[in-house]
Amino acid sequence: MALPDFPWDALAPHAERARRAPGGIVDLSVGTPVDPTPALLRDALAAASDAPGYPQVWGTPAVREAVAAWFARRRGVPGLDPDGVMPTPGSKELVAWLPTLLGLGPGDVVVHPLVAYPTYDVGARLAGAAPLPLDDVASLPSPVVDLPGGGTGRVRLVWLNSPSNPTGAVDDVRRLAEVVAWAREHDVVVAGDECYAELGWAPAEGCAHGEVDVDERGDLVPPSVLDPRATGGDSRGVLSVYSLSKQSNLAGYRAAFVAGCPALVRHLVGVRKHAGVIVPRPVQEVLRTALGDDAHVAEQKEHYRARRAVLRDALAAAGGRVERSDAGLYLWTTFDEPAMDTVARLADRGVLVAPGTFYGAAGERHVRVALTATDERVSAAAERLRG
Ligand SMILES: Cc1ncc(COP(=O)(O)O)c(C=O)c1O
Repeated sequence: MALPDFPWDALAPHAERARRAPGGIVDLSVGTPVDPTPALLRDALAAASDAPGYPQVWGTPAVREAVAAWFARRRGVPGLDPDGVMPTPGSKELVAWLPTLLGLGPGDVVVHPLVAYPTYDVGARLAGAAPLPLDDVASLPSPVVDLPGGGTGRVRLVWLNSPSNPTGAVDDVRRLAEVVAWAREHDVVVAGDECYAELGWAPAEGCAHGEVDVDERGDLVPPSVLDPRATGGDSRGVLSVYSLSKQSNLAGYRAAFVAGCPALVRHLVGVRKHAGVIVPRPVQEVLRTALGDDAHVAEQKEHYRARRAVLRDALAAAGGRVERSDAGLYLWTTFDEPAMDTVARLADRGVLVAPGTFYGAAGERHVRVALTATDERVSAAAERLRG
């Protein structure tokens, strides 16, 4: 199955126009961190730089134990088996290859959210399986489904993405439990892509969040798909995919992991040993260190909180309406017009945003505004949006 055009290429002319604006471009189109990698983590990299031997695909026991301890401390998932953990060189790589690693192919279906990070679709196509955008998989009477292009296929893998890129929507425990129960009944794997979980904000006014917890600040705490309220305390068939790119400013290090069902993780490790997909040993040490330190994550979150408030107000002043965006690094915004019209209008003011169409047809009247710019660039964007 052919791969789609790389969506970001379509933004190039708008980026060019935005660059010519007085004061230069404010690029809020990509969620790439701009603040420094914390010194603690750079030091951990330096301290682990003597690494002459091959690292293990499975990761060191210390890094796997650090992931289990983090799940218990931060995600409400006690007792995760460290055997069910594998570091990955960024999570985009795993998202793109998981269907292939699971042995999916023609006749198999990968379900992903209707408005979604494009790599779920790409991963299905790379495996020769069919992607199926669908939010309410748990309501399907059977895993055998009609495909949009004709014919039928059997659902083998369901991607959840909470908090969502791009909408910032959060799945509550009840929804996670429904999807896990449906998938177990039909022998389908569930993978929850959760890399924005540490970036919960106050629930939006009137937003029904069922069984979602809040922390001592009143911030929403997005539950993991491995939450025992969703899995019954049994991770069979369930994986959580996680990345430190955003929460720890480590996108350049490629520090991520997958955790959950030990049998599935053992299978993934087995295949990847043959393919040589390994997180460098020094990065495994950074991963271990980062997961043991909550302070740098909390500090970074405050930078995003401030930028989010500035941009949210400025978008409203410009006539935009921010929807959902209850967690994560994006403001999912509509100006009640086609997405590309908004992109073009904002690019004229030097502010580059991503059209919702990058995330599926259902995003045709939204744009995604990233919080990943410096305070100076965010203020510049706010001034231009208001002006
Ligand atoms: C939903 C989602 N999953 C996965 C990734 C990939 O993150 P990384 O490859 O940096 O670990 C991203 C990055 O933007 C994302 O938004």
